Amino acid sequence: MEIKIYKDAESIGRAAAGMFAAKIIENPKCVLGMATGSTPLPTYNALIELYNINVLDFRMVKTFNLDEYVGIGREHGQSYYRFMFDNLFSKVNISPKNVHVPNPVSKNFEDDCAAYDAAIEKSGGIDLQILGIGHNGHIAFNEPSKVFPFGTHIVNLTKSTIEANQRFFKNIDEVPKKAMTMGIGSIMKAREIIIIATGKEKAEAVKAMIKGNVDPMCPASVLQLHHKVTVFLDKEAASLL
Ligand code: PGA
Repeated sequence: MEIKIYKDAESIGRAAAGMFAAKIIENPKCVLGMATGSTPLPTYNALIELYNINVLDFRMVKTFNLDEYVGIGREHGQSYYRFMFDNLFSKVNISPKNVHVPNPVSKNFEDDCAAYDAAIEKSGGIDLQILGIGHNGHIAFNEPSKVFPFGTHIVNLTKSTIEANQRFFKNIDEVPKKAMTMGIGSIMKAREIIIIATGKEKAEAVKAMIKGNVDPMCPASVLQLHHKVTVFLDKEAASLL
């Protein structure tokens, strides 16, 4: 793991966007793994700035998002599909047919999950994946558990994740309790990974990810086994290292 400590979230966003930009310039048909949440927003803003000054062309870029809630449609204000269009896709020239966000609405979630993994494979696999980290060490919606879940699957969200996501909903009862998420295997197959953490409330999870044993109780710790991971931290998130 390469660990880089920056002064604030905006500087991290510019640095992470630079890594995405390099991929897009090197291969205009590259496949990018996208994340939602507060953490990637400065990166997406920096990518939009680069697009606006004509450095980037997203026309042939393909994307796969990590996860989506079960039980709310794509039109819902808090769906991750909507999040991606509001915060990035509608602001660059990406083709909607090239973007993929898990869509857990069919009667057979197992088929949906298998189809998502197959679509990633068919695209040639993810060149660069961006991740945030949950307070409990989750990556995507892979919550702490006894084993690392391999492929895309349906999860029951933990209490701490539901509470953390409550800020986006009117009340806790409205927060979906299940999600469809890429598995740890799906994430680890990405050729390169960026993981970003900012703020002191992420410091414990960051310590467990970097200094702890590889343990499914801290799903992010599996990244110690990936050959090309860059960890972007601000000073507060790095404070326990
Ligand atoms: P956040 O979420 O970016 O909103 O902090 C990260 C995560 O839960 O993976």
